[in-house]
Amino acid sequence: MQPGLFVSFEGIDGSGKSTQARALADHLRGRGHDVVLTREPGGSDGAEAIRRLLVEGDPDRWSPETEILLFNAARRDHVEKTIQPALARGAIVITDRFADSTRVYQGVARASLRPLVDQLHDLVIGLEPDLSFVIDMAADVALARGLARDSGEDRFEELGLGFQQALRAGFLDLARAAPERFCVIDGARASEVVARDVAARIEARLHG
Ligand SMILES: Nc1ncnc2c1ncn2[C@@H]1O[C@H](COP(=O)(O)OP(=O)(O)O)[C@@H](O)[C@H]1O
Ligand SMILES: [Mg+2]
Repeated sequence: MQPGLFVSFEGIDGSGKSTQARALADHLRGRGHDVVLTREPGGSDGAEAIRRLLVEGDPDRWSPETEILLFNAARRDHVEKTIQPALARGAIVITDRFADSTRVYQGVARASLRPLVDQLHDLVIGLEPDLSFVIDMAADVALARGLARDSGEDRFEELGLGFQQALRAGFLDLARAAPERFCVIDGARASEVVARDVAARIEARLHG
């Protein structure tokens, strides 16, 4: 039982998650809410250190099993140090990616590992967002946006268009399976238009 509100942004690389997470945080702060904006992998000192192991370097750096363990280690620290304390004081926590990203990425990279992903989540995380936005759009357009950033954190983006298309389908499947938690947003519009759509749905949740 948490007094705060836990919101996640999910979707493929370049879809606008980070842009929308920031816009929602600004919007809610402007309305006087206590907001914690965070991201995965990362979001706490320990998890940011693990992030560097995950997002930099050769795409084959880790086995799929090791990668799942690193994501869960980072997420556990993020939940303990950042998310739970903020929710406990009644804040709105907005995270740029959470466990759904692990479910979808691992489901696409190696579907046979999905049971391990789910079991580990239940064992060491056991927390889901109250509301998850999937920023949805065509993978080719999103990929072009993402690579244009040239962030140096492109270990996953370099996996290519077919992979991004499979990820998009994976996020939509998750959303269909849990419509009470998910809200699918058309991300192929101007960012201000997307942001108004997101804000309207949060307002409905806060005041509805
Ligand atoms: N609605 C939009 N229309 C056009 N460009 C956008 C839009 N939203 C974000 N961008 C740009 O696309 C790139 C990827 O956006 P970002 O928010 O970082 O996506 P993500 O976090 O999902 O990878 C950034 O350069 C950003 O400025
Ligand atoms: Mg981002």
